[in-house]
Amino acid sequence: HQASLTVDPAFRVGEVDPRLYGSFVEHMGRCVYTGIYEPEHPSADANGFRQDVTALVRELGVPLVRYPGGNFVSGYRWEDGIGPVAERPRRLDLAWRSLETNRVGVNEFMTWAKSAGVAPMMAVNLGTRGIDAARSLVEYCNLPGGTYWSDLRGGDPYAIKTWCLGNEMDGPWQTGHKTAYEYARLALETAKAMRQVDPSIELVACGSSNRAMPTFGSWEATVLGEAYDAVDYVSMHAYYQQHGDDRDSFLAVATDMDGFIDDVIATADHARAVGRHSKRINISFDEWNVWYQSRFVGETNLEIEETPRLIEDVYSVTDAVVVGNLLISLLRHADRVKIGCLAQLVNVIAPIMTEPGGQVWRQASFHPFALTAAHGQGTVLQVVADSPVVETKAFGEVPILDSVAVQTSSGVVIFAVNRSQDTPLSLDVDLRSLPGLTTASHTALFDADPDAINTAAAPDRVAPRILEDAKLDGGRLQAVLPPLSWNMLRLS
Ligand code: AHR
Repeated sequence: HQASLTVDPAFRVGEVDPRLYGSFVEHMGRCVYTGIYEPEHPSADANGFRQDVTALVRELGVPLVRYPGGNFVSGYRWEDGIGPVAERPRRLDLAWRSLETNRVGVNEFMTWAKSAGVAPMMAVNLGTRGIDAARSLVEYCNLPGGTYWSDLRGGDPYAIKTWCLGNEMDGPWQTGHKTAYEYARLALETAKAMRQVDPSIELVACGSSNRAMPTFGSWEATVLGEAYDAVDYVSMHAYYQQHGDDRDSFLAVATDMDGFIDDVIATADHARAVGRHSKRINISFDEWNVWYQSRFVGETNLEIEETPRLIEDVYSVTDAVVVGNLLISLLRHADRVKIGCLAQLVNVIAPIMTEPGGQVWRQASFHPFALTAAHGQGTVLQVVADSPVVETKAFGEVPILDSVAVQTSSGVVIFAVNRSQDTPLSLDVDLRSLPGLTTASHTALFDADPDAINTAAAPDRVAPRILEDAKLDGGRLQAVLPPLSWNMLRLS
């Protein structure tokens, strides 16, 4: 196969907000306990956080982490997680039917966030709770002192800037699920009170839990119809998996993400027009990943357990290529998608895995994420591509090549996938509008076995490889993308 691309710095999409490379820590399964936090582990620091995990979080390059849920937050009393640890209650978490010991709460999370070099994105409970709990939490976290909650915290304020007004409130599975109008009113009044405590915060309203929700579209329209002025972002969530043996459709799911984002932008801009608003609502894509939900259907109505192993998905080379492609989709919308959270960070559908008391390792999906986060910073440029197509059951004809370019401080980086399962793709890139580029490098993730995975026993079985094929001559780049591959072409 052959494909061509033209990259021109005149065609700017927008600046990459570094928060596009965020992630998510929920009190779910082993994300917190025996994930980021395990005081008994040999690598634990004085606060009980696993330094081997923190080191990989830094290597992953996430600047922002959403916390503490997820479905968990819709039944959470944040006050349970403050004060002397020995006195904290053991609670039944309804979302995952787990025992929550509250050994980690907001203070511990903030200590970890500091050591991992990430900014928090805090969610408030709009399921079982509401305005009062939310405004008290903002007071606890952000006020310097002199009030009940801020004095209880002590020390410097956390200055948490970004807050989520609940989680997936459109979902019938959510504790305290609401209609669009019920949620819109509560979100608006909660937002007002939170801003009255700290006017500098920014707020994310819940959008739809996924594109297939029966209320998708009308939910966003109702919520933004009521709460437009009170919020800054609307959230999006999407999880993808391969169905049966239909790998071609799975490799093309970024086209679904593109369409979903375009739909939400259209709906937000419609609300802007109808309400005569001047600002634009941007997107916080605060949960996305590959998640084989079909593998975990039994994981509801579980026996009540402390720190159960929940949805510990193992990612293959194919999954990693899809994760890289989903990042290409997010980058392509950098003008409107400002926050992204790979869900989740450790153990629970995560790029980082741990064994209790044991080792930590990178899943295959860690690699395209870390490389994109490290090198995909700057201005996104629209690419004009000419690519052969593949016929898919789910999405019809889709291009075999999907790509995006980012102009960086040192040159241009092209992220590209070859969706063909069996045929290499010869790529010709016209870079003549970017004179001065002289060197090219090619890093790719692919494997003779597209189902290859990393495990505790073979933690580096899947890793990116440097290819020596990229040639840059007279403003034209030639490279060959291996079958079923994610690629990064760096030009400087
Ligand atoms: O990330 C796992 C779960 O997926 C989250 O708790 C929820 O928000 C979503 O449905």
